[in-house]
Amino acid sequence: HVAQIEAANHSYHTLDAPEISDADYDALKRRLAALEARFPDLARADSPTTKIGAAVAEGFAKVAHEIRMLSLENAFLDADVADFDGRMRSYLGLGPEVALPCTAEPKIDGLSLSLRYENGLLVQAATRGDGALGENVTENARTIADIPQHLTGAPAVLEVRGEVYMSHADFAALNARQAERGEKSFANPRNAAAGSLRQLDARITASRPLKFFAYSWGVLSEPLSDTQFGAIERLKALGFQTNPLTRLCADTAEMLAQYRAIEAQRATLGYDIDGVVYKLNDLALQARLGFRATTPRWAIAHKFPAELAWTRLEKIEIQVGRTGALSPVARLAPVTVGGVVVSNATLHNEDYIAGLSSKGEVIRDGKDIREGDWVQVYRAGDVIPKVADVDLLRRDPASQPFVFPHLCPECGSEALREEGDAVRRCTGGLICPAQAVEKLKHFVSRAAFDIEGLGAKQ
Ligand code: IVH
Repeated sequence: HVAQIEAANHSYHTLDAPEISDADYDALKRRLAALEARFPDLARADSPTTKIGAAVAEGFAKVAHEIRMLSLENAFLDADVADFDGRMRSYLGLGPEVALPCTAEPKIDGLSLSLRYENGLLVQAATRGDGALGENVTENARTIADIPQHLTGAPAVLEVRGEVYMSHADFAALNARQAERGEKSFANPRNAAAGSLRQLDARITASRPLKFFAYSWGVLSEPLSDTQFGAIERLKALGFQTNPLTRLCADTAEMLAQYRAIEAQRATLGYDIDGVVYKLNDLALQARLGFRATTPRWAIAHKFPAELAWTRLEKIEIQVGRTGALSPVARLAPVTVGGVVVSNATLHNEDYIAGLSSKGEVIRDGKDIREGDWVQVYRAGDVIPKVADVDLLRRDPASQPFVFPHLCPECGSEALREEGDAVRRCTGGLICPAQAVEKLKHFVSRAAFDIEGLGAKQ
């Protein structure tokens, strides 16, 4: 689990190219936390459960955050939100008769940025990095229209924190422009925003349509307000964009009502959000609650469930990878899932198609996946969609289970499955054109060639 999470962290934070879904990532992290709770002796001191984000990339000067930039604990169920309220009460020694109002606001799917103003002038902008050490992206931040360069009436020292993001429309236009120029397109608006902000040449950032919502703060020479809601209003009055769906809620019931209201508007907001953040309104109580290793006790992110859509699976195709692994891919009738048109889904391997997990457990109630089936696909702020369910009532009675090939579809060599391996592999080696091409691509890719490494070692 540790290695899987570290690999996922690296591809998400450092390479801006996620390889597993947010939902899978959250599940992995929860499983690791549960294991560590059960077997504390086995927990590694450097476990990913004690860290957030990823190490800073080379190329930017580093900035130490005087006040760490934190992550948020996740809630998935209404009951988790009630628990959050209960935990704060027991920590503060407050009974159920005391009201604990909280703000509720969208959780923006972008990347966080800390802006430092001294005597009203923007002097530094830094990414979160690992929370303690971020990247200095001041010149890039200056190119973002939503970020004021100077403030009037602000505390002498003010660090404003918030989220840099890209709207759906701007993301689509950017990708179209990138394609026209033969340059790489981005998987989703979050990656586009991260890739655009973390450009060593600020002129490139300037050409990218980035936006910013302020929702938090770091170092302050004097308080902004005595409440969370008041502080956000103050930031708005200073000239920052704050999210218009931010509400002050009297209790858990109102928080959940605002969650539903925000969820209902999700598809028409024009930018990605992946949940609702609740923050205790009283800043004196926030201070009493303080922090765990990487998350405040006074805030929680209530995530939206993965989005689902039904469509027809037109064909199952087999792709052959560099190592000869045969990977089945579902070609789908295009369908919109969470604002993104999906026409492919991964099917992992032959057991998965048959209704078994890689550990041999029954999944989808054992329903197999066939060409022509109506399937439910999902993605969770994600790159590769997956198949969640099959509608047996709409299955053609004449359809047959999918027969996974035992010969490589590229070179005709035998494809074998070793004992205990979920994957079937082509035995053709370099005779197989697919393997040869993929191996060559891998070899000449910068990472594998390690040109910098060669230079350093001579
Ligand atoms: S508050 C101490 N509010 O979510 C509290 N975070 O999972 C700090 N995020 O690193 C965060 N929208 O990048 C907060 N309305 C919001 C947010 C938000 C998006 C991001 C932020 C943070 C991450 C935590």
